[in-house]
Amino acid sequence: MWHLPPPLALLLLVSSVTQAADHGKAVVLLDPQWVRVLQDDNVTLACQGAYPTGDNSTHWYHNGARISSQAPSYLIQAARVEDSGEYQCQRGLSTRSDSVQLEVQANWLVLQTSKWVFQEGELIRLRCHSWKNKPVYKVTYLQNGKPKQYFHKNSEFHIPEATLSHNGSYFCRGLIGHNNKSSGTVDIIIQDPTAPPSIISLPFPPWHQIAFCLLIGLLFAVDTGLYFFVQRDLQRSVVAKKEYNFKWSRDQDK
Ligand SMILES: *[C@@H]1O[C@H](CO)[C@@H](O)[C@H](O)[C@H]1NC(C)=O
Ligand SMILES: *[C@@H]1O[C@H](CO)[C@@H](O)[C@H](O)[C@H]1NC(C)=O
Ligand SMILES: *[C@@H]1O[C@H](CO)[C@@H](O)[C@H](O)[C@H]1NC(C)=O
Repeated sequence: MWHLPPPLALLLLVSSVTQAADHGKAVVLLDPQWVRVLQDDNVTLACQGAYPTGDNSTHWYHNGARISSQAPSYLIQAARVEDSGEYQCQRGLSTRSDSVQLEVQANWLVLQTSKWVFQEGELIRLRCHSWKNKPVYKVTYLQNGKPKQYFHKNSEFHIPEATLSHNGSYFCRGLIGHNNKSSGTVDIIIQDPTAPPSIISLPFPPWHQIAFCLLIGLLFAVDTGLYFFVQRDLQRSVVAKKEYNFKWSRDQDK
């Protein structure tokens, strides 16, 4: 390493560090995809992330606290309201995932969605789901209190390409047996990708990345400085040696 010129040594250092960072963040995937479920539903959380052979342990977090499961997927069987909250996972070399919000409701009906914020042009799937999948009839999906879609037999309501007009508050209602039931409301936000990004959505580099860049810059400066210092010293001693040899041979000639 010390025989390499500083830029090459630095390049090797940076590439080995970025290789480690390439494993990136783990990702929590919900199966089924719905971020809102009812009591007694089953939900599987899968952790996706790179890991080296031999180290396939997975760590799970619920509202920031470690849970005992170390399996690559975490099964919530017969969900309880207490299972609501934020889930994160970390696997092998990947860093801890962003959190995924799961909401468990005690209700007869829930309007299910895969996320709350959509970009214009995206498909929106809405599902009017009943407790223990009891049959629901005469289902209406409403946006801002206005009926949007009616199904005699319960079906998902799809909006193939979201526009800003689909932004709003949604719920569904229908008959379970002879009882008229309604879900809670879901606020769906449609973002215009051409609009200037808000402060919150600006990608802000995390502090450890800034610190890393500063450290690399510092190492580069020190490394380059050392290189030239050592080189100048070597040249000096070579010149001094030449001068000495020259002086010595002149002295011999006398
Ligand atoms: C959850 O899984 C159990 C066991 O497989 C099953 O009996 C139950 O019906 C499932 N719950 C729902 C709501 O599908
Ligand atoms: C979008 O809908 C949400 C929820 O109903 C509402 O709070 C927000 O003001 C709406 N935004 C626009 C631009 O209409
Ligand atoms: C249920 O109640 C709502 C509001 O009271 C009513 O408009 C609707 O017709 C009723 N029936 C069904 C099948 O939704």
